[in-house]
Amino acid sequence: MLLNLTDRSSVALRGNPQIADEFGSFRAIHYLGSKLRMLEFIKGVADKEDPSKGAIIDLFSGAGSVSHYFSNSRRVISVDIQEYSKVICKALLNPCTDKEILKYGDRMRLSSIKPKIEKAIYPLIEYEKNIIELGEKGDLEPLCNFLEYCSLYGFIDGLSQNSKYPLKVALNNSMELINELDSNIPLATLYFGGVYYSFEQSAHIDVILNEINNAPLKYQNILMAALLSTASDIVNTVGKQFAQPIRPRKKNGDPKPKLIQQLSKDRTLCVFNKFQEWLEKYTNQKQFVTGHEVHCIDYRNILDNIPNDVNIVYADPPYTRDHYSRFYHGLETLCLQDYPKISETTIGGSLRLSRGLYRLERHQSPFCIKSLAPKAFNDLFEKVAGSGKTLMLSYSPYDKDAKAHPRVMELEQLMLLANKYFNYVKTHSPGVFIHSKLNHSEKHLKASNNSEIILVCRN
Ligand SMILES: C[S@@+](CC[C@H](N)C(=O)[O-])C[C@H]1O[C@@H](n2cnc3c(N)ncnc32)[C@H](O)[C@@H]1O
Repeated sequence: MLLNLTDRSSVALRGNPQIADEFGSFRAIHYLGSKLRMLEFIKGVADKEDPSKGAIIDLFSGAGSVSHYFSNSRRVISVDIQEYSKVICKALLNPCTDKEILKYGDRMRLSSIKPKIEKAIYPLIEYEKNIIELGEKGDLEPLCNFLEYCSLYGFIDGLSQNSKYPLKVALNNSMELINELDSNIPLATLYFGGVYYSFEQSAHIDVILNEINNAPLKYQNILMAALLSTASDIVNTVGKQFAQPIRPRKKNGDPKPKLIQQLSKDRTLCVFNKFQEWLEKYTNQKQFVTGHEVHCIDYRNILDNIPNDVNIVYADPPYTRDHYSRFYHGLETLCLQDYPKISETTIGGSLRLSRGLYRLERHQSPFCIKSLAPKAFNDLFEKVAGSGKTLMLSYSPYDKDAKAHPRVMELEQLMLLANKYFNYVKTHSPGVFIHSKLNHSEKHLKASNNSEIILVCRN
């Protein structure tokens, strides 16, 4: 990829600066470790370090909250290795305010491909509705079987052989109808139907995807961003990520009594309504500063080419062994539409698809791997110090006595490493802050008084 890293020496503030002060935050997707609740603190540190309001690099931009917040007062360069982050950041930093785009809400609903896709998925949509009705009457066994073996990808791959007879028939019938479509297999239905969304919802996501691919280029990114936000809002999982599909059974194998409630809230949400809401939110965005850039690249690449007008590199890398690509692979697949192979795992001696249906080649970040993290941080410190810019590194310590996720690198280690390259290394803390977390008692990250720190490093 060619980087357009042209030098810009000043920030161009558009319109009324008063409006810029009222600039709020934007939660594009449900995101673990989002910095949404500490944006003012981060901005406060940046403004103190660089009152001239030079450009800033948001090095691990994720859901784009930091990039978006800074974009009203500084030129922002967002960098992340994931495509979904690029789509969201582009929509936030270069918003499309052309109200014409709002017509796409209705255009999706009235799409000519909608009845065709619905017809092909109909056997599964109907089957799912029937077993939910059965479940509501107290017979939860077919619903458990459905949630465990309904993946169309697994069916095609031959790894869903345990699905019971009527489900097999529905899968088979849908497959035959899908093969009659004069388009590719509907992607969202293939990968996420039944597992993360109801089949009806996944079919509607496919309708939207299809329309996006046929939309004028100038609209495609914002439409995709609205779809990602929609997909994140309606996904039927704990924590709204893509790592833990609903487990229908208790440890002893019995169906969970609250299964129906777990499904009903998310699976009845209307994809088209949500999409329209998000489209409005994105098109209501205003842009006060121009010249932002968004790059889907490894962090090291940008650090070798930092533009002159950048004064601060803000970095929020991952700190635990949980790769972000594991939680958001669903969004990545919607963006890439590359029909990835799904990773497999051996359970009880037999080969099964990974429960979360992960992309086989999802990104493995060196920051999440104990043996690679020191070098990854070393590169970060060395490259930023070499460029003469100020580094603001976010860090969230953890309480060793609580059942929190351990950090791959401790703060003390990081500070020692930073001191090798910077003369000035200081920590700033806003006080109590609790990360958004997986809603699972074992994995709750505990709040502590020194949670969330910004390490400021400069020479
Ligand atoms: C803690 S999250 C960032 C959260 C973000 N500040 C927010 O508030 O939404 C870490 C991000 O680092 C990205 N990442 C991990 N390894 C990377 C690499 N080698 N290069 C670029 N980005 C990387 C992940 O994709 C993830 O989005």
